[in-house]
Amino acid sequence: MNKYITTPIYYVNGEAHIGHAYTTFIADTMARYERLKGNDTYFLTGTDEHGQKIEESAQKNGKPIQEFADEISATFKNLWDEFEISYDKFIRTTDADHKLGVQKAFEVMYAKGDIYKDFYEGHYCVSCETFFPETQLIDGEFCPDCGRTTSIVKEESYFFKLSKYEDRLLKHYEENPDFILPRSRANEVINFVKGGLRDLSVTRTSFTWGVDMPESLNDDKHVMYVWLDALMNYVTALGYGKDDANMNYWPASTHLIGKDILRFHAIYWPAFLMSLDMPLPEHIGVHGWWTRDGEKMSKSKGNVISPKEVADAYGVENLRYFMLREVPFGQDGDFSQRAFIDRINSELSNDLGNLLNRIIGMSGKYSEFIIDSVNVEKYHSKELNSMNEALGNLDGFMKNMQTHRYLEELWKLFSIGNKAIEEYAPWAKMKEDKKDEALATVALVANILAKASIMLSPVMPKTTATIADALNFKINNDSYNELIIDKKLLKLFTIKKVPPLFPRVEEPLMVEAPIAESNPPKVEKQKELKQDNSKETDNLIEIGQFFETSLKIGTVLESEEVPKSKKLLKLQVDVGDETPRQVVAGIKEFYSAESLVGTQVCVVANLKPAKLMGMISEGMLLAAKDEDGLCLVRPEKPKKAGTPIG
Ligand code: MSP
Repeated sequence: MNKYITTPIYYVNGEAHIGHAYTTFIADTMARYERLKGNDTYFLTGTDEHGQKIEESAQKNGKPIQEFADEISATFKNLWDEFEISYDKFIRTTDADHKLGVQKAFEVMYAKGDIYKDFYEGHYCVSCETFFPETQLIDGEFCPDCGRTTSIVKEESYFFKLSKYEDRLLKHYEENPDFILPRSRANEVINFVKGGLRDLSVTRTSFTWGVDMPESLNDDKHVMYVWLDALMNYVTALGYGKDDANMNYWPASTHLIGKDILRFHAIYWPAFLMSLDMPLPEHIGVHGWWTRDGEKMSKSKGNVISPKEVADAYGVENLRYFMLREVPFGQDGDFSQRAFIDRINSELSNDLGNLLNRIIGMSGKYSEFIIDSVNVEKYHSKELNSMNEALGNLDGFMKNMQTHRYLEELWKLFSIGNKAIEEYAPWAKMKEDKKDEALATVALVANILAKASIMLSPVMPKTTATIADALNFKINNDSYNELIIDKKLLKLFTIKKVPPLFPRVEEPLMVEAPIAESNPPKVEKQKELKQDNSKETDNLIEIGQFFETSLKIGTVLESEEVPKSKKLLKLQVDVGDETPRQVVAGIKEFYSAESLVGTQVCVVANLKPAKLMGMISEGMLLAAKDEDGLCLVRPEKPKKAGTPIG
């Protein structure tokens, strides 16, 4: 089956940020997933290079427009290459073939009577490259989408008869409830269309940086509207207007886009296609926006996160995993290093990495690294059933682009594996002389890891290839068919040792860029926060400030009352240093000295030493006090003395 997956083409007025990387990661994951399933897949990305916005950016940078576009376009392409994005074509709207395709489409629509010439007067937002009716403007002046000032533009224009397609569009949405995914996004589009569509101005005379009019119209005053030009990329990339070389991939399976450009893709684009008598894409997948600290990212705010910087610090595959796991598809997400680190440590390092290390260790000890699936079905049918159930659910999640649910479901496999090791304790079975059973558990886990790696490979292609290599197989359509579709088990093999795949991250690896002073949170945001009394608003600190405090687990070795003090106890606490720390704490009213010996506490370990009643105190204990008294904050489970908290 043919599959065609696209990203939006990115404007070349600035370099890629984390939001662009997100769209590209999802599209790349979907393309890899389709290829894994054996589908003939074409994956398109590229850059959108025309329009007034680009013209102005080039001028600001003092560069000829084409040179400026070349430079920025290359930064996108280089970044995707560095990230090993598996695109089949990188299109640029300044490509000659693309321009020919756009001109051809214009001619076809014109010949059909769907494009006519008239005058346009309206409020134009340069940043959004869109006209807005006065009723939609904020305070009669500002763009309803981006808030920037609009300007009144009166010009001769060619118009596309968008209004003609109103009924057909509504019928299409009704008959194809999965045209817009998530489905919850469809209503805004349907309501917009029901509100009445005005014909769309599809040429401009106020600037020149755009695709020229087709020669047959003999009208060089105009250039094409950038959205007509840009949307056409999805078919010109396949050879439309030239040789139709790859038009067998049309219609697209999924155009992946952010929520801000839904109207263009769900209304204008299908209407253009209807006019061209071409089939419509199967799905428009609409994702939410990434914010940083709850704020929209933008160059002017200076709070843009560079995907390269994050990938350099944490690894691009970890970043892919994080972004796809963290946010339910369609919803907005906030990028925070803390959440990222937590997922690396608990889900990648603990759940997955440790599982692999454990079976490498056990098979080394029990069977000279040889793993044999021969007895897995006999001893572990229960686990195999649960595993197959979870594997069976994955396709549905990916079809709906619910990457977070997909990964959540996949992680059930690691939990089945980790539980099986605890429950069947192969080391105990070895002692009881039940080697068959012990080895069956190890082999069960090897199979779990193999199958999970195949299904994780679209998200983390390189890491999973390493796991597969350790398990002596290759991830491809054959192994997918064998291990996932036919549910077979691994053949006898010798497991290989691998270096740790997910080293734990103890503290943020990137310096948190300060939010520019000139950009305080929006007024509404401040109001919203103030009303919620449970949140700190005046006292916010950067995460880096939090990490300036060294918090450690301590074990109380000795404890005694301070004579003549009602409140103080003097403790000797092991915080992992060579010698114990003396901590003088005001907790005597709540704890007897002896009750503390041997217990664990949380210690602020980098406080300057202080003197209390003439005694040095080299730390502080974390405690919480309310009207019922005070209690110490302690780890939920015993931890080694000196373990950092954070
Ligand atoms: N050039 C148009 C698209 C034309 S497609 C025929 C465009 N370009 S863009 O560079 O501004 O945005 C490209 C994509 O990045 C859009 O899907 C947009 O939603 C997405 N994102 C831009 N900022 C984003 C975030 N902060 N978070 C997530 N995605 C965001 O629009």
